[in-house]
Amino acid sequence: MTENASDVVVQMTDVHAGYLPGINILNGANLVARKGELIGIIGPNGAGKSTLLKAIFGMVKVRGGEITVNGESIVGLKADKLVSRGVAFVPQTNNVFPSLTIEENLQMGLYQNPKAFAERLEFVTGIFAELGARLKQRAGSLSGGERQMVAMSRALMMDPSVLLLDEPSAGLSPVRQDDAFIRVSDINKAGVTTIMVEQNARRCLQICDRGYVLDQGRDAYEGPGRDLLVDPKVIALYLGTLAEDAA
Ligand SMILES: Nc1ncnc2c1ncn2[C@@H]1O[C@H](COP(=O)(O)OP(=O)(O)OP(=O)(O)O)[C@@H](O)[C@H]1O
Ligand SMILES: [Mg+2]
Repeated sequence: MTENASDVVVQMTDVHAGYLPGINILNGANLVARKGELIGIIGPNGAGKSTLLKAIFGMVKVRGGEITVNGESIVGLKADKLVSRGVAFVPQTNNVFPSLTIEENLQMGLYQNPKAFAERLEFVTGIFAELGARLKQRAGSLSGGERQMVAMSRALMMDPSVLLLDEPSAGLSPVRQDDAFIRVSDINKAGVTTIMVEQNARRCLQICDRGYVLDQGRDAYEGPGRDLLVDPKVIALYLGTLAEDAA
């Protein structure tokens, strides 16, 4: 990988952010995602993983530091502006419109560019073929794993510069969790720069190009996923999680 600035899609530098006055959850977080990379973020409960994604998506107050997307600052921008800058966010829960059909959910993902629907639908159903056959089904009637597919598909409709995923495997059965990781890999192989937060640290590090271990709102470790997986310091800090995942 060349150190070419134009390769950088997302850059967070020394970000401090929090919800309540005087209390920061992110305490100097740094992250770089280059074009085409799959970035994994792991760390204990409450480390600030979801908050980091929310900081990129303008859902928590950034009090210090800088966040750029494609070289331009996005700090302070509202969701619609972030979408037009190419940032797509799939929250952990409540990420589909249950009363709408799959097709209508996908249309919601493309409200800024409805003419591209047919082309984007082809891209998305190339990854999630089963959704293409069920476009008229209400999202509320789908299983958890299927809903997750709809949520990721909705986010992909806008042809994002970066896809932010908060715990795509959460709440799924072990088999469905495996499927979720394979789908995230497929999305990334289709060329989408992706930043994924995951509880399932081992699986996450296995598939990501680079990982960040977040601890108390700071990036404690960073490196290729497969290196972090065997790094004694990372294992020591997260042994419980890794041992549990391996079982
Ligand atoms: N809306 C909010 N208002 C106030 N505090 C919040 C809010 N959301 C999160 N927090 C606090 O921020 C801290 C970090 O939460 P965050 O959800 O980012 O952690 P996480 O690493 O994603 O954890 P988990 O693994 O449990 O999802 C926690 O102490 C949490 O209580
Ligand atoms: Mg979280």
